[in-house]
Amino acid sequence: MGEIDEAFIQTEENRSKVCMIEEGIPVIDLSPLVCGSSSEPCFEEVVRQIGSACREWGFFQVINHGSSVESRQKMEEEARKFFQQSKEQKNEVRRDAVHVMGYFDSELTRNVRDWKEVFDYTVEEPTLVPASPDPHDLTITHWYNKWPQYPPHLREALEEYGKQMEELALKLMELIALSLGLAPKRFHGFFKDQTSWIRLNFYPPCPSPHLVLGCGRHKDSGALTVLAQDDVCGLEVKRKSDGQWVRVIPAPNAYIINVGAVIEVWSNETYESVEHRVILNSEKERLSYPFFLTPAHYTMVQPLEELLNNQNPPKYRPYNWGKFFLTRKRSNFVNLNVENIQI
Ligand code: SIN
Ligand code: FE2
Repeated sequence: MGEIDEAFIQTEENRSKVCMIEEGIPVIDLSPLVCGSSSEPCFEEVVRQIGSACREWGFFQVINHGSSVESRQKMEEEARKFFQQSKEQKNEVRRDAVHVMGYFDSELTRNVRDWKEVFDYTVEEPTLVPASPDPHDLTITHWYNKWPQYPPHLREALEEYGKQMEELALKLMELIALSLGLAPKRFHGFFKDQTSWIRLNFYPPCPSPHLVLGCGRHKDSGALTVLAQDDVCGLEVKRKSDGQWVRVIPAPNAYIINVGAVIEVWSNETYESVEHRVILNSEKERLSYPFFLTPAHYTMVQPLEELLNNQNPPKYRPYNWGKFFLTRKRSNFVNLNVENIQI
């Protein structure tokens, strides 16, 4: 395998193949929402498109979303500066088993190492409960951001970007609620004490992109993911209709949206969290920036009552979001007992 550490090598079935599929994930124009001059039928059409994209793909792109392009550019500039530093400098904000935010370069997905570096931060830092020093203590659901000295404007840029993302994600949740026949703000209460976080992903060029993945196949576990990326392709989505991997070609300034497991449970599987992965490039680095909209740590995630009936009984048992989330985040470090996690 030459210079590549064995820990990164994917099994044959998970390696990337040449993608022959031309079809892309749906692109949804949100201008009827932001320009305010729209007539009702246009708005209803957006809701319809969102519903069918969630049902058929679990993924879509949004354009004309009204989110600030300047804020995104600033965030991208600062993120790039952060990753350009040496490992020693980045390790100054390295995460550990207890503090799950910060820099990390050894993430495993399905026990294989991803070819990437990340910087994680939470958009709503709690102030009340001190973090427990015991990584097995899943009742402590608070965590803290680790901000580096350099680049000096990283924090400011990311905090501003976080606000933009929260606004866009909640707007999308309204559309998703409407598409399920619910009141537009049906989901908002779950995000009052949100645990939402943002990940900066840096995928360096890889000498063996046919053997290694930037991020192995997985489903997102939060409610909704809103992803920005630079202009290098890499994301692939598993098409629900036939299980083929479809490459995402992002439209300029678009956000790529996907349904996570929490919506899958709330909607009792009307919408599903769909598998995706990241393939690599032998020449170009790639940066991507997912915002994970996630509920309050004390939320019991379960199918919404009003969507259930005799023909549609609950398909999931309730689970505690905070415990599930911390178990997931810490699983790279400690062997946690995941018996109580049902999903
Ligand atoms: C992810 O799914 O975690 C990252 C997606 C991407 O980099 O495009
Ligand atoms: Fe993901």
